[in-house]
Amino acid sequence: MGRKVLKLGVLISGRGSNLQSIIDHIEDGKVPARIEVVISDKKDAYGLERAKRHGIEALFIDPTAFPTKEDFEKAVGDELEKRGVELVCLAGFMRILSPYFVKRFENRVINIHPALLPSFPGLHGQKQALDYGVKIAGCTVHFVNEEVDAGPIIIQAAVPVFDDDDEDTLSARILKYEHKIYPMAIKLIAEGRVAVRGRKVIIRDAKKEEWAGVNPPLEV
Ligand code: GRF
Repeated sequence: MGRKVLKLGVLISGRGSNLQSIIDHIEDGKVPARIEVVISDKKDAYGLERAKRHGIEALFIDPTAFPTKEDFEKAVGDELEKRGVELVCLAGFMRILSPYFVKRFENRVINIHPALLPSFPGLHGQKQALDYGVKIAGCTVHFVNEEVDAGPIIIQAAVPVFDDDDEDTLSARILKYEHKIYPMAIKLIAEGRVAVRGRKVIIRDAKKEEWAGVNPPLEV
């Protein structure tokens, strides 16, 4: 008997390295999901090429072609629903979704953010962390609610910050763990093991061995 496969829609605006990691984990049989469609708000997003290369439908939806933000989001939502998408994954999608979209896909939109939320929400989380002088940085996968980068947290991974780090070196260290925790979060949701209780996300039957490799050793 085949397991249920969770239908994903991935929204991107650029490079798509998180998209690539999701694709790779699915193709390797590690995540019981299928990407039904990748949608970009930028025509030249490299992630669209990545999708096509793997036989995944890739759409560019031009936000400037719609009179309002909500009209654009309605078009995106319609494309996702047409394909039966059950979980919407924001992967470097550089737009803040309005309450309209968040309500339409309530508790069915997740995002990856390159900081340990609730610290450093918004743009350039890695640079904010460096400028602040924190010694531990990281990344967060969370449900999307109506506030920016503020929904219930599903998984976080921490990385050390070194004195000689710049934005590029720290971003690269964090990105490695983004590529682990995003597919992991999707796997847990696909397996029906994630429950949202207010601000808290409960992971059912969490096994120690599953988490091995998700968090880096912080010893130096
Ligand atoms: C990542 O750092 C992600 O955390 C942030 O935007 C970046 C997207 O990178 N939301 P990519 O397009 O997945 O390579």
